[in-house]
Amino acid sequence: MPRSAKQSSPISSTRSSAGSSEAEVATHGSRIGDDASRAFRDALGQFATGVTILTTRTTDGMPIGVTINSFNAVSLDPPLILWSLSLATAKLAHFRRASHYAVNILSANQAPISECFAAADENPFAGLQIRDGLGGIPLLENCAASFECTPEAEYPGGDHVIFVGRVARFSSTKSQEPLIFHAGRYRSLE
Ligand SMILES: Cc1cc2nc3c(=O)[nH]c(=O)nc-3n(C[C@H](O)[C@H](O)[C@H](O)COP(=O)(O)O)c2cc1C
Repeated sequence: MPRSAKQSSPISSTRSSAGSSEAEVATHGSRIGDDASRAFRDALGQFATGVTILTTRTTDGMPIGVTINSFNAVSLDPPLILWSLSLATAKLAHFRRASHYAVNILSANQAPISECFAAADENPFAGLQIRDGLGGIPLLENCAASFECTPEAEYPGGDHVIFVGRVARFSSTKSQEPLIFHAGRYRSLE
């Protein structure tokens, strides 16, 4: 029996007159088209997250960082966290080689910092207050929390690599509300 067009695409989407989109996701197939990819991103964007900056140093000591919202808790004992990084970024090789990295959880007033570290900014650390953490990793000041990690594991994740980190030290403050990211926009808890 020939496969229908719907069966051959892992994701198909329709847009209703009310502007809401409905997508049907199949469990087989290889690539998705541009329209379905947009619908998939939009659906994922309904999952509200915090915003983090993952930081480390290159082997020659340069601080690097990238905006990440795929962060999540994994395990309490041992203390493990995860995040994923695109195969397309040149920063991947540095995080794969790092002996330590930090997850800096941004506070509500730090959306401009998120934008700097998401863009191909020459030096996103310029003008920021940082201090050295374990292994010399740069920690951003005034964050809601930070987790200093050693690499525990790395898994293939399609067009991303999934990193699992073991938390060696952390800090958090109740005085800073977290920055929220939802549907492609920064928000705060109020
Ligand atoms: C709020 C937000 C969350 C992001 N989360 C991730 C993420 O979890 N993983 C990822 O690989 N890129 C994420 N990005 C994109 C990266 O920050 C960055 O733009 C991308 O890796 C391109 O970096 P490059 O200029 O080094 O290629 C996010 C961007 C924003 C604004």
